[in-house]
Amino acid sequence: MSQKVTKAIFPVAGLGTRFLPATKSVPKEIMTLVDRPLIQYAIDEARAAGITEFIFVTSRGKGALEDYFDSAPVLEEALRDKGKDKLLDTLLDTNMESGAIAYIRQHKALGLGHAIWCARRLIGDEPFAVMLPDDVIAAQKPCLQQMVEAYAECGGNMVAAMEVAPEQTSSYGVLDVARPAQNRIVDVKGMVEKPPAGTAPSNLAVIGRYILSPNVLKNLDEVKQGTGGEIQLTDAIASEIEQDRKVYGYQFDGRRFDCGSKSGFLQATVSFGLERAELRDDLKAYLKELAPTLD
Ligand code: G1P
Repeated sequence: MSQKVTKAIFPVAGLGTRFLPATKSVPKEIMTLVDRPLIQYAIDEARAAGITEFIFVTSRGKGALEDYFDSAPVLEEALRDKGKDKLLDTLLDTNMESGAIAYIRQHKALGLGHAIWCARRLIGDEPFAVMLPDDVIAAQKPCLQQMVEAYAECGGNMVAAMEVAPEQTSSYGVLDVARPAQNRIVDVKGMVEKPPAGTAPSNLAVIGRYILSPNVLKNLDEVKQGTGGEIQLTDAIASEIEQDRKVYGYQFDGRRFDCGSKSGFLQATVSFGLERAELRDDLKAYLKELAPTLD
């Protein structure tokens, strides 16, 4: 049995330039799908997987994130006075237990690997999860929970994986596969961050959910600038394979939305809207009205 995973790192230091001007004053992670911020989806998924310690790697201008997870006594009081119990429950559900969240700053934008490395002292010597809130995954069983269950059996390091079209591989970390999937688990013999078109070892892309051994943090001490001149998490994980430690891809069951792109964000909005009983009929009627006009 592998050690239990109770800590997760959420790298949220990015500038979110693709969503300017909105992200001039609102952190990208606070942008909402229907009525819940992106970060809330990630937190809910982490909680479902048994995570109890949440580590945010932030940067200047992300104060709204800290406020979001704080209790809001004035608002709570107002809802209580008005008897708006359901809304009050929704609000209370976002509160985090004191001490469950830690915020640490990434002082320089040196890449995802560097962001994770910034949290090294808070992780110590135990396995940990990494969740990229841009990747929102709709699934019957939340993706990280699927991975935690698989990880309990096989240990090592595990990354979420998804097949993408060959022309899209250059936007992702890509797996070099040693053995095809068995029970959704792929044995990995190499990983490349954003391989140039035509050079990808497979079309199995890394999606933003990871369960990593603390060795990866040590590897990050040594990792040099990689793709895009950044310190890449992919390189630190690939280094595990070079040191004869296991890396697995987990082909999760679910639909992933790339909410780091406007198109993915809009698709997620429609999809999550359709899931909501109070919105479904209206939204469906509108989409039906729209469909014939789309060609
Ligand atoms: C990051 C990772 C990449 C991964 C992707 C998934 O890239 O570096 O390996 O495939 O997330 O969303 P980013 O999209 O932040 O450039």
